[in-house]
Amino acid sequence: MVPHQAWTHQDGQLLAQLPNAIRELLDCTTLVIVSNRGPVEFHQTSDGDFVTKRGTGGVITAMSAAARYAEAIWVACAMTSADRLKAEEMRRRGEPFLDLPDLPGFRLRFVVPDPSAYQGYYNRIANPLLWFLQHYLWDTPRAPDIDYRTWQAWHEGYVVVNRLFAEEVVAAAAAVPREPIILLQDYHLYLVPAFIRELRPDLLLHHFVHIPWPDQDYWRLLPLVMRRAICEGLLANDIVGFQTPRHARSFLNTVDANLPDAEVDYRRREVAYRGRITRVRVYPISIDPELVRAVANSEDARRHEEHLQAYRNEFTIVRVDRAEPSKNVVRGFLAYDRLLEAHPELIGRVNFLAFLVPTRMEVAEYINYLDEINAVVGRINAKYANAAEVEGIHWQPVHLFVGDDYPRALAAMRFYDVLLVNAIFDGMNLVAKEGALLNERNGVLILSEGAGAYQQLGQWALTVSPTDIEGTAQALWRGLTMPEAERAWRAEQLRRHVLEHDLRRWLIDQLQDIADLRAERAPHRVAAPS
Ligand code: G6P
Repeated sequence: MVPHQAWTHQDGQLLAQLPNAIRELLDCTTLVIVSNRGPVEFHQTSDGDFVTKRGTGGVITAMSAAARYAEAIWVACAMTSADRLKAEEMRRRGEPFLDLPDLPGFRLRFVVPDPSAYQGYYNRIANPLLWFLQHYLWDTPRAPDIDYRTWQAWHEGYVVVNRLFAEEVVAAAAAVPREPIILLQDYHLYLVPAFIRELRPDLLLHHFVHIPWPDQDYWRLLPLVMRRAICEGLLANDIVGFQTPRHARSFLNTVDANLPDAEVDYRRREVAYRGRITRVRVYPISIDPELVRAVANSEDARRHEEHLQAYRNEFTIVRVDRAEPSKNVVRGFLAYDRLLEAHPELIGRVNFLAFLVPTRMEVAEYINYLDEINAVVGRINAKYANAAEVEGIHWQPVHLFVGDDYPRALAAMRFYDVLLVNAIFDGMNLVAKEGALLNERNGVLILSEGAGAYQQLGQWALTVSPTDIEGTAQALWRGLTMPEAERAWRAEQLRRHVLEHDLRRWLIDQLQDIADLRAERAPHRVAAPS
């Protein structure tokens, strides 16, 4: 999460540094960002006043940065009853967008599905079905069961809400004076591009998939009708972006396996389908170092840092995650338990601080996972509290901080000796990058092979296979006892990489591809490159 004032710091210097082709693109177009969750939620106070609260998650953080560069409209789902009231008010007044006075640079248009359609779309299809599939989380002999409720959620939820999104995007596109460029985000919206094409074949559509794209065989857990619709939906885009080359390759394989009429060119990473060409590209997402540092240096974060001093020990392990199954939090604690068993000399000398943000609490799989986390932490704390007491020490090996507090999490990143990122699969994992940037103790990064970030940062991290509890325990030991010179070298390389591959670069690479495509389609429209 990034505080309001930080996203709107219009950065003249950054704009000045944009390549000419991109500056020209942004001068004559409007970015229409489309995502399930919008940049803000409205809430109503007891006096009936509307207040805004920032939406959470990586998509918001990344796309908020895009709005610093250009005129941007955001199309997103109404999440709260106050959002719905605001959307109604906007329609009554015949206004196409909501201005957000405290957030200059943003204008918003809500999609307002009926609650039962939203329930099917979000709580049954997007999460857990697609999320679990794309992170390889299913225990396949038992799940998923695609029963009539799933089909109903597909037809009356996912398809319906995706169509509503397409209609709102088309309305937004018609209401802006400049040429709109549509930037779709993520797995909630796979069918939107095809629905937009039915209404506006001319629009330039770009879709970024923030989460992994699994192997085409695994997609067979979804019925053919669904996976075909998903492939066809995505192929209605001009460009589809993924976090890593592996995900892009898996997408091409999935299209090849499911759409017999598609011509897949693996070398050029392009697909020809029904008279259109879709380019498949790789854009590893990153952080905005300046914004992250601004939050980490804020008064709020400094206050947390002071408070957290009391929880540190001779050795401090930190993890920061949303409390959800793909993050592999439980196995992380089992590995810590194993570390303490194998190295009793650490008893009383090491603390594990876990900062977890509860998420998707309407979905049973997520509620159960949070319960499992609480249970394993309770067990470890009880076990070692007893062991420590025998030696006359008062010690709590795990401290669990549950809640959405970004400044607090960043404060903790300054002082870890080891940062544990052992996700089973993860599109990217920005925590690894934030930690690398902020840590002041030459802390060691333990990084799962399954995180997208592994492809960029793996060479300077200690690698773990996410299911390997024993290996993770050994990596924790190695991280805590690594000689200072090696720690310093690794930390320096990580920091350098993150600074060189920042969020700006992620955006610029995408905008450059869009500018190139526009230039190819209508060369007369684009000024000569300088
Ligand atoms: C994470 C993922 C994003 C995804 C978002 C949705 O941040 O990295 O790819 O869009 O979750 O989260 P939500 O809380 O809106 O379900």
